[in-house]
Amino acid sequence: MGPSPVCPAAVSLNQDDLKKIAAYKAVEHVKSGMVLGLGTGSTAKHAVDRIADLLRQGVLKDIVGIPTSTKTYDQAVSLGIPLSDLDSHPVVDLAIDGADEVDSGLNLVKGRGGSLLREKMVESVSKKFIVIVDESKLVKHVGGSGLAMPVEVIPFCWNHSLRRLVGMFAYAGCIGELRMSVENGKPSVTDNGNFVIDLYFERDIGDLNEASDAILRLPGIVEHGMFIGLATSVIVAGEEGITVKTK
Ligand code: 5RP
Repeated sequence: MGPSPVCPAAVSLNQDDLKKIAAYKAVEHVKSGMVLGLGTGSTAKHAVDRIADLLRQGVLKDIVGIPTSTKTYDQAVSLGIPLSDLDSHPVVDLAIDGADEVDSGLNLVKGRGGSLLREKMVESVSKKFIVIVDESKLVKHVGGSGLAMPVEVIPFCWNHSLRRLVGMFAYAGCIGELRMSVENGKPSVTDNGNFVIDLYFERDIGDLNEASDAILRLPGIVEHGMFIGLATSVIVAGEEGITVKTK
């Protein structure tokens, strides 16, 4: 086995150390022969690295990874992890992914990295979905933290979609903006060729399932970043150690 991340209590740890600790802990649940959902983001990246290490060492065998973004696909290919997709493997044994927000009911906000659609497609068909976060991601209620809730939209008349979304959540003091790419100053484009609208709520949006249904009923909306009831457990790494929250 390769080196494990250091014990949280031993030294002062930065946020990336905590992400790595959570990721390594989750990978302890990976068994040979599994079909694995490979998440996206700086936390999930550690899990993919770790899986590749264990495959190289022969500790794990016959893993099939289903990447949730082109970025994770590229990482996994570069590390030699065998890959497939949902067409060939419609049921996933275990998915491991990060999140932007986690609440006490294990509901999540995801997609600030822009990969929400593929993440939700893979994680919604996973028998187990382990979320890996550092403690900064814990919130009281998702959809009420004041931080971005991403919505993937069709580029056609995106401004119209933005206005409809903002109007729908006027009761929660919603504002929205089109996500722009920091690299080229143009709208940020997802792996699926769509745009992302980030919604910000001044007040709690209330019932998450109702909000989800209402968003998905709007023509032009592809998916939103609320992951309601999908996580089976959440591994939280903090200065005081690791906490595992389970449904
Ligand atoms: C990408 C995601 C990520 O999981 C989420 O943004 C967390 O990222 P990070 O681990 O870098 O904090 O949903 O679409």
